[in-house]
Amino acid sequence: MEFDPKRLARARHVVVFSGAGVSAQSGIPTFRDALTGLWEHFDPARLATVQAFREDPALVWGWYEWRRQKVLEAQPNAAHLTIAELARRLPRLTLITQNVDDLHERAGSLDVLHLHGSLHAPKCFACHRPFTGPLPLPSLPEQGARLEPPRCTGCNGKIRPGVVWFGEALPERMLKRAVQAARECDLLLSVGTSGLVQPAARIPHLALQQGACVVHINPQPQPCTAPGEYNLVGRAGEVLPHLLDQAFA
Ligand code: APR
Repeated sequence: MEFDPKRLARARHVVVFSGAGVSAQSGIPTFRDALTGLWEHFDPARLATVQAFREDPALVWGWYEWRRQKVLEAQPNAAHLTIAELARRLPRLTLITQNVDDLHERAGSLDVLHLHGSLHAPKCFACHRPFTGPLPLPSLPEQGARLEPPRCTGCNGKIRPGVVWFGEALPERMLKRAVQAARECDLLLSVGTSGLVQPAARIPHLALQQGACVVHINPQPQPCTAPGEYNLVGRAGEVLPHLLDQAFA
């Protein structure tokens, strides 16, 4: 059965749950896409854990600064812009992202719930104070280049990326708000995520369990396990603008 776009225009509370795929057409690598995904070439255990930072802070800091550099060079794409436009046309939209870039914000989205933190919120590894010092635009030649992290102005500890690493707890307040929105919404658009990483991956299931409709927007069709679950197969940069046009035609 096809998803009726008019259900989007009639929705009273839409949740958009985004993953790396929403930034793919801005030139930001995803994690698990074959050949182009970051984890195809770099082992998450070596780069995205507390242990990895302890063992080799310059490798981890350099990798995240390289990713921040990619984001600074990138522009929001039609998917980000359409999500921001949807929020202006609907009575209520909650945007939950697993992404650590700021492309949703730069496209005009407000109050973005970042479940996995942000590249733009570095903090002290020792005392956890936010780092307020200047962060020069990195000029890293390639992925994997080492860069010594700056020091905390408060305790001289090493500065770490403000992202959630594997094994770390998600920001409690953000997760609570995201779970609440999933439980209240009547439609959830799951955009550009492989749905593999818990607990974030619970969000679409929470919506489905309470009777919301869930639509996966992804070039790879996702398993649809329930009546109210649909696939819109394609790239978010094309599917979302088309969905907006059909919904509000
Ligand atoms: N439009 C929509 N979806 C796309 C596009 C696109 N243009 N290009 C790729 N995709 C899809 C892929 O098919 C894949 O299903 O985006 C998804 C990206 O999946 P992942 O790389 O696993 O990224 P994500 O789901 O966001 O990963 C979740 O895992 O590594 C951790 O913390 C990291 O937040 C990340 C989390």
